[in-house]
Amino acid sequence: MALSLFLLATIAFSSVTAQSPSSSSCASHTFSSSQLYGSCATLPHLGTTLHYNYTAAGNTVSVAFRAPSKGAGWVAWGLNPNGTGMVGTQAVVAFRHSNGSLVAYPTVLDSYAPSMAPADAAELGFPVSDVAAEYAKKGGEMVVYATVALPGKGSKFNHVWQQGSSVVNDVPAAHPTTGDNILSTGAIDFSK
Ligand SMILES: *[C@@H]1O[C@H](CO)[C@@H](O)[C@H](O)[C@H]1NC(C)=O
Ligand SMILES: *[C@@H]1O[C@H](CO)[C@@H](O)[C@H](O)[C@H]1NC(C)=O
Ligand SMILES: *[C@@H]1O[C@H](CO)[C@@H](O)[C@H](O)[C@H]1NC(C)=O
Repeated sequence: MALSLFLLATIAFSSVTAQSPSSSSCASHTFSSSQLYGSCATLPHLGTTLHYNYTAAGNTVSVAFRAPSKGAGWVAWGLNPNGTGMVGTQAVVAFRHSNGSLVAYPTVLDSYAPSMAPADAAELGFPVSDVAAEYAKKGGEMVVYATVALPGKGSKFNHVWQQGSSVVNDVPAAHPTTGDNILSTGAIDFSK
């Protein structure tokens, strides 16, 4: 009895630590230009990770979002300042353009079928800068970088992330609407 309680406690503890910020699996990651981030979180869906540097004075956060990529498709990460799901999310998206460049730009998810075309890149509801992307051969990942001036007070936000396998005529196409692709939302406290 005592032993099984101990085992249960151990299992519960490990599953909590596995998801907490700066868990060793993400903290040990090395970026291509050795950028350092104070915190990271292994996100619960799509094999993704968010690295972030929060600055309380000014309430800004610099992020690096890592998602597995097979060299095609697109990845996106964003904040939903006034809701919890996809609609209303202010995001940064990246994909490999047919001209060979990786392109990265802000986009507003104003419906369940938003235009994510580069030509429709929009001003977000809050300032975003340093938007960039790279393909990291090691690990086969797409990385999107951005610095966000957080809207409102406080460091807790709902965030949304995504990965789509298809880009058509240089426009990110709809992601699957089942499984992990519709579960990839959550809350994050950038001060942790
Ligand atoms: C994150 O913050 C640390 C400490 O201030 C700094 O050394 C590092 O360069 C920052 N990283 C990025 C990517 O801005
Ligand atoms: C490819 O297209 C994108 C989007 O129009 C543009 O920003 C980028 O500079 C282009 N790259 C090359 C190598 O032409
Ligand atoms: C969120 O709601 C606030 C208050 O209604 C509004 O000022 C702000 O523009 C909204 N933000 C976005 C991104 O829609």
